Amino acid sequence: MARRQGTSARTAGKEPASSEKHDIRPGQSVELLKELHILTRDGKLNQDSRRKLKQINHLYQFIEPLLEDVRRTNHSITLVDHGAGKSYLGFILYDLYVRQNREVECRIFGIETRDELVDKSRDLARRLGFDAMSFLNLSVADAIHADAIPQQVDMVTALHACDTATDDAIRFALMKQARFVVLAPCCQAEVAAVLRRNKGKALASSLAELWRRPLHTREFGSLVTNVLRCLQLEAHGYQVNVTELVGWEHSLKNELIMAEYKDLPRRKSAQRLNDLLAMLGVEEELGSRFFTPPEERLIRNEP
Ligand SMILES: C[S@@+](CC[C@H](N)C(=O)[O-])C[C@H]1O[C@@H](n2cnc3c(N)ncnc32)[C@H](O)[C@@H]1O
Repeated sequence: MARRQGTSARTAGKEPASSEKHDIRPGQSVELLKELHILTRDGKLNQDSRRKLKQINHLYQFIEPLLEDVRRTNHSITLVDHGAGKSYLGFILYDLYVRQNREVECRIFGIETRDELVDKSRDLARRLGFDAMSFLNLSVADAIHADAIPQQVDMVTALHACDTATDDAIRFALMKQARFVVLAPCCQAEVAAVLRRNKGKALASSLAELWRRPLHTREFGSLVTNVLRCLQLEAHGYQVNVTELVGWEHSLKNELIMAEYKDLPRRKSAQRLNDLLAMLGVEEELGSRFFTPPEERLIRNEP
């Protein structure tokens, strides 16, 4: 694992406009924010970029203590960010954490399928000297077996990774035995599509009223998806916490799922997950996505 190098990113640069100052964290590189087009060349934020900056800086407050936890036990940190897009999260984590903690060996991987975004991120990291960042032009599913990624990963993040990419990120985290998983799920259409297909059969039960109308199918599908994700993580031994990413005014996709591995694979969560799949009539189609550990791994007596 490469040790991080210094960087010339935090140039003296122009000061951001005064109205922007309270959105920028102390020590945050104005030059990086300009490179990411979060700040304009003259240091201004537009409505969209202010929202993005708020989101990522807010997320940083959740992630930083987890990085500190890993560092206390490992002395090195490997983080994989799935569906990285323009890699705002990776770059800002690097700027705020990696560069401020030079004694810690860190590596950040960004996984992204759009090659132009991967090229841009590579180019920016090179120009900034952020040389412990790597960008892989891969799907999340393919990243599980990529040689370039270590067998064990400390933290997995996926911020609004599209549709089932979040589920693939969970699978990735389980395979890599990640200690922390931080997910801000995007719209997920798969469960809703299965509910829609099976609606005829399901309507025999009054429960199906929860998703009979098309708008409710989508919303309920999305809720069910996140509930299944939480149960799956618990069944695999994680302690799960669900909270808001930021206030609703800043983002519609606002759920934040944070999980820490505790090696307590819960029988009850596995049972509940499987019960839910059966009650909703989606067991056959979705059982392999929301897989649970083998029976013998599950803990019998739990609170
Ligand atoms: C809505 S963007 C979010 C980008 C970034 N995480 C952020 O919050 O700014 C989702 C990104 O995930 C990428 N993506 C979607 N499905 C993916 C998959 N299966 N594997 C890897 N990347 C994927 C898309 O190309 C897109 O860049």
